[in-house]
Amino acid sequence: MIITLAQTKGGVGKTTLAVNLAIERVLRGKRDVLLVDADDQGTAADFTALRAERLNGNTGYTAVQLSGAAVRTQVLAMRSKYDDIVIDAGGRDTAGLRAALTISNVALVPFQPRSFDVWTLAKIGQLVSEAQIINPNLQAFAVINCADPQGSDNAEAAEALTENPSIVYLAAPIGRRKAFPNAASQGLSVLEVPHPDSKATNEIKLLADKLMAALAVPAD
Ligand SMILES: Nc1ncnc2c1ncn2[C@@H]1O[C@H](COP(=O)(O)OP(=O)(O)OP(=O)(O)O)[C@@H](O)[C@H]1O
Ligand SMILES: [Mg+2]
Repeated sequence: MIITLAQTKGGVGKTTLAVNLAIERVLRGKRDVLLVDADDQGTAADFTALRAERLNGNTGYTAVQLSGAAVRTQVLAMRSKYDDIVIDAGGRDTAGLRAALTISNVALVPFQPRSFDVWTLAKIGQLVSEAQIINPNLQAFAVINCADPQGSDNAEAAEALTENPSIVYLAAPIGRRKAFPNAASQGLSVLEVPHPDSKATNEIKLLADKLMAALAVPAD
């Protein structure tokens, strides 16, 4: 399965969710996992470099950096070697993001429960619809990141999404928790730190489970 973290807005948690999901896949079944950093900022690659340093090279997944059309051609060439591929496509509308969407099963769209982010979903919806012309298997799911603990505006954000037919709301919100930056600063996922935050670990597991379950049901 190929999952692309897709959001043209910056700083919404694409890299955070990409690395946590890639590592969740590894921990779940020791599967062969590929993490593709398609963002020229190289944050996922930096995370992997730190992780390799901390874990004596045993990152648990393979990491590559790709850009532009190579995201499509290289990933297609490597696809058969991996059970799961996670692509961090960066925070702009780039050739790399568009290329990733043409080969992905899932576009996972993190957004923060504020109205501005909700508007940017329309732009992603358009990119998804365009990619679906050549990749009818693509399904897009939006997930709230940095959720407000009260949950009040989360419900509003979920409601706003119902107006966007090409993106389905996935009810697995990720809270704003220090556990995420703390784990990342050690080159780890929230699942691996010595004293895990059980809320953060449960959220990542639930997100992965809901994604897998949603994919098991074919789109109409
Ligand atoms: N759920 C969360 N709780 C707390 N902090 C978070 C959470 N998700 C992300 N962050 C923090 O927010 C910042 C932006 O997150 P991240 O780098 O994952 O976003 P991004 O979408 O990849 O950004 P960019 O568009 O620049 O690539 C980081 O400092 C990250 O640690
Ligand atoms: Mg990023």
